[in-house]
Amino acid sequence: MNTPKRYTITTALPYTNGAIHIGHLAGVYVPADIYARYLRLTGNDVILIGGSDEHGVPITIKAKNEGVTPQDIVDKYHAIIKKSFEDFGITYDNYSRTSAQVHHKTASEFFTTLNDKEEFVEEVTEQLYDAEANQFLADRFVVGTCPKCGNEESYGDQCENCGTSHNATDLINPKSALTGNTPTLKQTKHWFLPLDKHEAFLKEWILEGHKKDWKSNVYGQCKSWIDDGLRPRAVTRDLNWGIPVPAEGGEGKVLYVWFDAPIGYISSTVEWAEREGKDWEPYWKDKDTKLVHFIGKDNIVFHCIIFPAMLKAEGSYILPENVPANEFLNLEGNKLSTSKNWAVWLPDYLEEFPGQQDVLRYVLTANAPETKDNDFTWKDFQARNNNELVAIFGNFINRVVVLTNKYYDGVVPTANALSQVDEETLAAVKAYPDVISSSIERYRFREAQQELMNLARLGNKYLADEEPWKVIKVDEARTQTIMYVALQIASALATLCEPFLPFTSEKLKNILNVGSSDSTEENCIENSWNEISTKNILLPSGHQIGKAELLFSKIEDQTIQAQLDKLKASKKANEAANKEVEPQKDTITFEDFTKLDIRVGTILEAEKMPKAKKLLVLKVDTGIDVRTIVSGIAESFTAEEVVGKKVTVLVNLAPRKLRGVESQGMILMTETPEGKLVFVNPDDANAVNGLQIS
Ligand code: MF3
Ligand code: ZN
Repeated sequence: MNTPKRYTITTALPYTNGAIHIGHLAGVYVPADIYARYLRLTGNDVILIGGSDEHGVPITIKAKNEGVTPQDIVDKYHAIIKKSFEDFGITYDNYSRTSAQVHHKTASEFFTTLNDKEEFVEEVTEQLYDAEANQFLADRFVVGTCPKCGNEESYGDQCENCGTSHNATDLINPKSALTGNTPTLKQTKHWFLPLDKHEAFLKEWILEGHKKDWKSNVYGQCKSWIDDGLRPRAVTRDLNWGIPVPAEGGEGKVLYVWFDAPIGYISSTVEWAEREGKDWEPYWKDKDTKLVHFIGKDNIVFHCIIFPAMLKAEGSYILPENVPANEFLNLEGNKLSTSKNWAVWLPDYLEEFPGQQDVLRYVLTANAPETKDNDFTWKDFQARNNNELVAIFGNFINRVVVLTNKYYDGVVPTANALSQVDEETLAAVKAYPDVISSSIERYRFREAQQELMNLARLGNKYLADEEPWKVIKVDEARTQTIMYVALQIASALATLCEPFLPFTSEKLKNILNVGSSDSTEENCIENSWNEISTKNILLPSGHQIGKAELLFSKIEDQTIQAQLDKLKASKKANEAANKEVEPQKDTITFEDFTKLDIRVGTILEAEKMPKAKKLLVLKVDTGIDVRTIVSGIAESFTAEEVVGKKVTVLVNLAPRKLRGVESQGMILMTETPEGKLVFVNPDDANAVNGLQIS
């Protein structure tokens, strides 16, 4: 067994301009929580640290668009994000925010230390400037062509297409995101972190020191960065949202968001320590502490190159032991996107699938984008729930608990002579903690979870082979032994599933009446992770368990369809929002216009045109007469719905036959963003039929 260690585990601080979605969860928060829970269970000293990233340009742009202050934006999303993490069972020791005073103080001091140590280069350079907006343009304020891959919509700081991080002045054809203008150049002073100066150290530390233990996707990105040659990076910005630059000449400037945000991990630790009456420093400065950053792949350079260079320059900090960055999760074949609303949002999930946190945790881990981008689909979500959680894990537990109650009133029976299969099964159970540990410790969470499921499979197979429901009729002693063995497996599952399925673990411990908050002292049997291997008896004979309770329930097709419909609607809305407005048609004269006779009318009757998907046959009172109009609106309305509607009718359109029915006019329609047709009708329902529209 390993000796306990101290771990500082950090999770990327999410930007507070939107809620958390499944991409964030799969990439960062679920694996980090599995890791932290596992390390706590195995007796280590662990802090899981998080917080909200509340500075940066996107937040100021969003605030401007919504006519509110940046503080309003971050207050709103910080609250939403923090609550959803809690409800989802992410076990933060502290969740802070970068607008907190403790963070402003910590980040300012960090900057000052580096500044005093002359670790920065101060330089007046020409930066992009938007004269109309009276503002310097950096980061997301400027869009242009990526010098590396040619993507025409690269941001000033980073290209989302190829992942390259650059300076705004590197962009080809830059345009201001504020006005669309081509920026001019204007002189301004900034503080630069001379990454080139740290090149030798980074080479040795990463390229030589971590070739073997870092994930190949992480190592590969670092190598390509270093091979490209490192250049000084500005760590200050001409902006008014952020942490003021605490140095002479820093007026009107703030720290670059990517300078202050990672320091947020330290501030959050300081906040935690103050609250808990602890010392924060060993968690960041003791060389025996393991610092692990959980992030997505777009954050690699900041956590593997820039932040370590900052920590190194400061001098008193440890460096990350590992940065197990994940690739991206897609949704139904498309890239997740906050701005396009192409996502499964955590707050929505928690509301729509109450009590089913573990299902999402399970599916995201089973499909975790550990080595390559992966796809989340609702069908797969349903299948994994129904075929794995319900049919394997849930089914095994349910059979064990139901039979124990049925045969023994819920009391664990005595084991009689163990057969060879029993011995082998119990020995196999004992091997699981190490197998799962080994995967988790190599950041292979999918593999670890698969092993956990293999233990449930083992239990299922054991019951299926031993058939206690048949044996009970002929051999009571043997049945007792079978049920005893099955109960030991159930008990092992209760402990070993905790990192992956914490809500289920809690439920299962309650059912088994072991080590959960609800069990009474004398009944309370706590099995630690390691004890699953070392103890011979996990659930002793004579121990009383509780009644069966379903751990998982089947997810029906209609539930999945509702989610797919929701995505479809969001896609349509987005397409409509981005739809190019049709160019104006050729000019007509006033005389042309007066030829159109448009009237107010009312639909009196409606019926579906047989065998035509789109057509309704309407009887419309035009004020002049009651006439038949065939209208292509059946995909947006039922016949019943439209009866009684006030409409606008072009009455002098030449009649024409549609499917044998003569249509004598046309009803004016337009479309909602979701693509549903709607009537263009007079604002006032009292408008009288026959009134001309002019
Ligand atoms: N807010 C960043 C993002 O969502 C991550 C910041 S991580 C930190 O990509 F290290 F800066 F905190
Ligand atoms: Zn690019």
